[in-house]
Amino acid sequence: MNIAPLVQARGLGRQFRDGASEKWALQGLELQILGGEKLAVTGPSGAGKSTLLRLLGALDRSYAGELRVNGCELRDLDDRALARFRGQTVGFVFQSFNLLPSYSVGDNLLMPNVLTGALPAADALERARELLDRVGLRACWDQRPLTLSGGQRQRVAVARALLLKPSLVLCDEPTGALDHDTAQQVLDLLDELHAEQACTLIYVTHDERVVARCDRRLQLFDGRMAERQPGGSS
Ligand SMILES: Nc1ncnc2c1ncn2[C@@H]1O[C@H](COP(=O)(O)OP(=O)(O)O)[C@@H](O)[C@H]1O
Ligand SMILES: [Mg+2]
Repeated sequence: MNIAPLVQARGLGRQFRDGASEKWALQGLELQILGGEKLAVTGPSGAGKSTLLRLLGALDRSYAGELRVNGCELRDLDDRALARFRGQTVGFVFQSFNLLPSYSVGDNLLMPNVLTGALPAADALERARELLDRVGLRACWDQRPLTLSGGQRQRVAVARALLLKPSLVLCDEPTGALDHDTAQQVLDLLDELHAEQACTLIYVTHDERVVARCDRRLQLFDGRMAERQPGGSS
């Protein structure tokens, strides 16, 4: 593991308007995550888990407090840095896979590079082919996502999330739509890739089997941390 924290949040909060009043979806969050860690974020529905994940991935930057990833305060990123951050520093895996149905599996895999231009096209193609092979779907390059099973689609989504070697992989209930055995296979794959790619993995999950695979758990309740975490400051 690296020594410098990959993620540093101090007094992190997110407020939403709820009719005439304001509601804190997240409040006073203190969090440090080290490079290479595997963290589970748990808590009841509405606790603020997805809100936190969206902030960590800079999909939402309207927060209170401090949120630094790789030493950069996310609200200060300019458009160019923001595009690079979303495309290259983070990878997302969603419960519902979020593959583009009218594109082939291969084109879905290449999409992060099409959007960012981070790699020369030939290098991206080579990396995408390697990753598809790695997730056991080499033969599916030209297929449309809807011709694949749920587990296969999530494997494609995992490969896509890793295309540009992100340091932070954010998974929002990645096994929520999968049966037990398929979920197990996807989790095994994520574990293996976490070790191979030296990324930090954050799971939002209700599944205790996922929590058991993680180094630690951050429990949210009504927008607050349920207990102080070993890595949290002050
Ligand atoms: N875009 C939004 N507008 C208004 N309220 C929101 C928005 N996103 C989330 N919330 C509210 O913030 C709280 C936390 O939501 P969320 O992070 O999705 O919870 P979880 O993922 O833990 O189920 C909920 O009360 C939800 O209604
Ligand atoms: Mg959620």
